[in-house]
Amino acid sequence: MKSWLIDAYPWIKSAHIVSVVAWMAGLLYLPRLFVYHAMAPVGSDRSETFKIMERRLLRGIMNPAMLVTLGFGLVLAATPDVVDWHRGWIWTKLVLVAGLVAYHGWLARWRRAFAVDRNRRSPYFFRVINELPTLALIAIVVLVVVKPF
Ligand code: HEM
Repeated sequence: MKSWLIDAYPWIKSAHIVSVVAWMAGLLYLPRLFVYHAMAPVGSDRSETFKIMERRLLRGIMNPAMLVTLGFGLVLAATPDVVDWHRGWIWTKLVLVAGLVAYHGWLARWRRAFAVDRNRRSPYFFRVINELPTLALIAIVVLVVVKPF
């Protein structure tokens, strides 16, 4: 009945990986922009340019890429014989994915603060939190490829 899902599996996985790359690019780049934005004087040309870059990155790339990643991920999870739900890797992965979605939400909140010149956070703060998605990505890739447990 669901055999079309099995036939489409390599294509859906390809689309999942492409959208993961686009989403991760944004999750890594947006906090980098915040580091430099936090150093730019309020009202300067530089600050106004960062506002445009941040809005376009979040709305034009990150929001759609996140939705497509989650959508294709759920389709993969619904494909017969792809996930053994008794194993731990998929649940651990889902917890980490929830963490990335929450992180995305925080970035969106901080972007809105920058947009109205209300950022209160330091460049150092954004530099530190910039490492979080890297750690999540490494863990997720090992979980889905090695499936250690
Ligand atoms: C709702 C969220 C998600 C679900 C339900 C999901 C589910 C899945 C499933 C079922 C597979 C196939 C595993 C296999 O063939 O053995 C897969 C593959 C993969 N997922 Fe996700 N995923 C989600 C989000 C993510 C995110 C956020 C990332 C990275 C940050 C990610 C990275 C990958 C990678 C790299 C693969 C390819 C693994 C391989 O080559 O077998 N996924 N995903």
